[in-house]
Amino acid sequence: MRAFYRSLKPLVLWREQTRPLDWGQLFGRVAPVELEIGFGSGDYLVARAQQHPERNLVGIELEWASVQRALRKIAAAGLTNVRVLLGDARPILWRAIAPQSLARIVALFPCPWPKKHHHKHRLFDQQQLQLLNSRLCEQGEFYLLTDHKEYFQWVLSHLTDTGFTAFARTVPPHVNTKYEQKWLAGGQTRFYELTLRKTHHCPIPLLEDIPMETYCVQQFDPARFQPADVKEAVHVVFKEMRYDPVRQIAMTRVVVVEDDLTQHFWIEVVREGDQWRIRPAPGCGVVPTVGVQRALDAVRAACESSA
Ligand SMILES: C[S@@+](CC[C@H](N)C(=O)[O-])C[C@H]1O[C@@H](n2cnc3c(N)ncnc32)[C@H](O)[C@@H]1O
Repeated sequence: MRAFYRSLKPLVLWREQTRPLDWGQLFGRVAPVELEIGFGSGDYLVARAQQHPERNLVGIELEWASVQRALRKIAAAGLTNVRVLLGDARPILWRAIAPQSLARIVALFPCPWPKKHHHKHRLFDQQQLQLLNSRLCEQGEFYLLTDHKEYFQWVLSHLTDTGFTAFARTVPPHVNTKYEQKWLAGGQTRFYELTLRKTHHCPIPLLEDIPMETYCVQQFDPARFQPADVKEAVHVVFKEMRYDPVRQIAMTRVVVVEDDLTQHFWIEVVREGDQWRIRPAPGCGVVPTVGVQRALDAVRAACESSA
């Protein structure tokens, strides 16, 4: 049988929440907040929450299957001091986590992306370390553990102007996560540990939502509707379109890529009296950005030229 989650309660839908996230409100108490990036199966997140009931633990993970496994463990352990977020840690840190709101950040065995042409996917380059610094409280720390020497040295080479003092060493296995066990089973008995203590603050403000403008147009012909993709600093790619002639509603699927945030959502063109309303379809959890506005602009232009 598949290991479904037992409760969705610890899951925070960060796109639908008011940003920055209010930890006091989300946990129902004020306590130091620790963040784990890429928690995988959630073993460390759960163990840490059990060992530190006086702390609030937050995990961010890219994969839904991993989030489900962690949710199951959180419920089985009866923990109330853990919240999990599904998504890429980078835009979440930029857009949803307030400066100086975290006591500790942890990343255990982040993907090392060993091939040179994959280095762009690596976490914790200089800019990301500055971002982590800005989200940490005074004297907060970032703890990184990896099996991969070359990746470890790559992170060390990005420390300039990040406001951290570094402590680096090799350590025996001690966190008992799936990946630590995997490398241990493969014969690796020493891992690379980096502790970064915050000494200076890097002032990287929260990236705020833009005020989003929705539109009304007089004319719309679904048969001739063809929104044009945008390929500039922001990429907007239109996918399929559906039209319900009875309810007079058209939906077009769109992918918007900008900086490190990729959003997949639907835009609807819906009959309202004698005009057509253009807006992101309700329930899509869209973060209002310049790219989303460009997508709405493109739909408006396509509606107008369809008539
Ligand atoms: C090699 S696994 C390590 C998992 C776990 N920490 C462990 O020690 O077993 C790396 C994890 O980071 C997650 N991940 C990769 N990039 C991420 C990102 N940008 N934001 C959040 N999680 C990410 C992956 O989905 C994966 O679960």
